[in-house]
Amino acid sequence: MLSGKNLLLIISGGIAAYKVLEVIRRLRDRGMMIRAVLTEGGAQFVTPLSVAALTENRVYQDLFSLTDEAEMGHIRLSREADLVLVAPASADLIARMASGMANDLATTALLATNKPVLIAPAMNVEMWNHAATRANIATLESRGVMRIGPASGDLACGEFGSGRLSEPADIIAAVTDFFTARTAAKPLAGKRAIVTSGPTHEPIDPVRYIANRSSGKQGHAIAVALAAAGAEVTLISGPVALPDPSGMAVRHVETAREMMVAVQDSLPADIAVCAAAVADWRVASSAGQKLKKDESGQMPDLRFAENPDILAALGAPGPNRPALVIGFAAETENLLAHARAKLVRKGCDWILANDVTAESGTFGGDHNQIHLIRQDRPQDDDVWPRQDKKAVADHLVAQIIAHFAGTKP
Ligand code: C5P
Repeated sequence: MLSGKNLLLIISGGIAAYKVLEVIRRLRDRGMMIRAVLTEGGAQFVTPLSVAALTENRVYQDLFSLTDEAEMGHIRLSREADLVLVAPASADLIARMASGMANDLATTALLATNKPVLIAPAMNVEMWNHAATRANIATLESRGVMRIGPASGDLACGEFGSGRLSEPADIIAAVTDFFTARTAAKPLAGKRAIVTSGPTHEPIDPVRYIANRSSGKQGHAIAVALAAAGAEVTLISGPVALPDPSGMAVRHVETAREMMVAVQDSLPADIAVCAAAVADWRVASSAGQKLKKDESGQMPDLRFAENPDILAALGAPGPNRPALVIGFAAETENLLAHARAKLVRKGCDWILANDVTAESGTFGGDHNQIHLIRQDRPQDDDVWPRQDKKAVADHLVAQIIAHFAGTKP
């Protein structure tokens, strides 16, 4: 699995750096090619000589070194790797990564790389729990940086808690898992998918709008699950408070009409999942200036126009119709009857019906209870357990994979 793979190993400062020598040895035993960058802090704990001897490669230390740059620039260094491993990742290096600094060779390579990055943090427990470190880790993870550890236990500083560098065996397992997952079959490879997600905002005037309670969590989770299965995903998102998922094209829109244009632009596709809560109506002629309250007691006279139905447009027969068109039916009563009618009316293949009464906690919440209704098996009542939105996404993608494979899941 690891044989012939290239690793860029960045060793930053920390007493745990000595454990990384063991990691190098074991990865070399498995045939991995390793180039190491040693930060100034890292060099306080392990010597360049031991790292060079174990990697059987020269060690890179200096951003401005003529010999380092002449032999291999930081761009090439960061691009020739299949994976970048930062171990130990100190609090300082994590902070510099999160803020996009490039003030030494390690951070410059990390900023320049377009390859996956795995960090193995190691620091004192208070540093690990500090709000600044928490925020930095959240930032890195939202950008797709992977993490192993830290482990919990006795710390070199004499305290106890979370912050220990993961054991070499665990770091090696994380590296192996990365390559296993990457080479695992991607059952939706070659398939294009469009996912709509979130609410739409329909302006009343320049400062007010009509919206709904959709958080985008379900649609974003479906986009992530489709991408993980190898699909080429375009996520078209209304205004949400979620970070853009990595590994896909993301288009941001505000109104239903903008969402429709973005969807049309993204065709053709094999799969369309309409998870957005698109506003059915917009204000027919939204005001160019802020509507003012005056003394007359007169209320503004808002007239509505119907928005385009994106799902119905995708479901309509035609050369650009995706092979599998999936919609949601958020209902507060007569769930199944309304959902079945919607399936027919919108011409979609599958409808995921969910109860959105206040008690169900669906909107903005983390869970969803789904009934899957299929056009080709109208009487099958496929009720999924109440599960979190990621599990719903994985379940749906498993059904999509089975559909294209021509099997029953
Ligand atoms: O009719 P209703 O809004 O309940 O239908 C819900 C389904 O239709 C969802 O899949 C939603 O994404 C989609 N829809 C749409 N465009 C609209 C309205 C709803 O794509 N204008």
